[in-house]
Amino acid sequence: MRRAVVIGVGAHLPERVVPNTHFEAFMETNDEWIRERTGITQRHFAAEGEVTSDLAVMAGAEAIKDAGVEASSIDLVVLATSTPDDTMPSTATKIQHRLGITGGAAFDVNAACSGFVYAMTVANSFIIAGTAKRVLVIGAETYSRILDFNDRTTCILFGDGAGAVLLDAQEQKGTNDDRGVLFSKIHSDGQYTQLLATNGGVSSTMTSGKMFMVGKEIFRHASTKMPAAVEEGLAELKLPLSAIDWLVPHQANMRILASVGQKLHINEEKVVATVPKHANTSAASIPLALYTAKNDGRLKNGHLVACPALGAGLTWGCTLIRW
Ligand code: UT7
Repeated sequence: MRRAVVIGVGAHLPERVVPNTHFEAFMETNDEWIRERTGITQRHFAAEGEVTSDLAVMAGAEAIKDAGVEASSIDLVVLATSTPDDTMPSTATKIQHRLGITGGAAFDVNAACSGFVYAMTVANSFIIAGTAKRVLVIGAETYSRILDFNDRTTCILFGDGAGAVLLDAQEQKGTNDDRGVLFSKIHSDGQYTQLLATNGGVSSTMTSGKMFMVGKEIFRHASTKMPAAVEEGLAELKLPLSAIDWLVPHQANMRILASVGQKLHINEEKVVATVPKHANTSAASIPLALYTAKNDGRLKNGHLVACPALGAGLTWGCTLIRW
């Protein structure tokens, strides 16, 4: 059976580090509140003129180098983002060109914080169908551009960044011991669009709009739907919870990570958490966390990784990868 095997990872964070104390100067908030309620200590913000594709190209180039393959061998680029450089063309086509990829196709996927799981599901489907052989999946965001810096309940939560994985179509046995994506499934429920959204957009206001969120409701959905998405995958594969080596969830809030881990009876040492240093980088958060765990030696070949996410839409889902 054909599987989408991860052969390279890359990441990029903007140079500028913004500590929690930055917000104290212009709004009623403080470092202690932010740490206690979210676990966040800092985030990275893009420099003036630095756009989503700049971060994505750096992450993508590193993933290609890590895999040791030629960029020209890539026949699909899928970018997960809700903060594209421009309304058109897709940011993925700019990235494709800047990485020296000349053939195949490139497009964007917008599922907000679930973007990486959506993009992985799309890429996996292309690989299984035989329509693509080598797919670069990137999650890249510049949320600093859509934050409302008058709203203390949202602007302290997000950061900018990019993460990438390179997937290669490889023949495997068709068992749960195979390397590659073993399960990837997405969901959405549009009745909840107004829980997390921007107050404008291209066609409605001719601006990007700024973000607003009903935090408590999103918290509740995230801490129930993310564990359910993992359980759905394990049930389909007929694997027990104990089969998971690493839980690498979307990084929104330490309290959400803890709750998802508890519901799945996964020890906190097995939960990869980058939210303290990166804050919520939306579609970039899971590939940034995968990159972190791979490069500090935790994530090794053969490990089973569960990556659940939930974001605006509502959208949610889970990818299970044998590393
Ligand atoms: O995955 C998709 C993205 N989702 C998310 O990133 C986040 C999901 N939600 C959350 O992480 C949490 O709901 C928040 C971190 C947004 C809020 O935490 P909470 O424990 O639900 O706090 P709360 O909304 O109940 O607020 C408690 C108090 C309120 O004051 P009052 O009404 O009790 O007087 C807020 O006004 O804290 C106040 N507050 C703040 N205080 C200082 C809200 N934001 C801040 C702030 N600094 N930045």
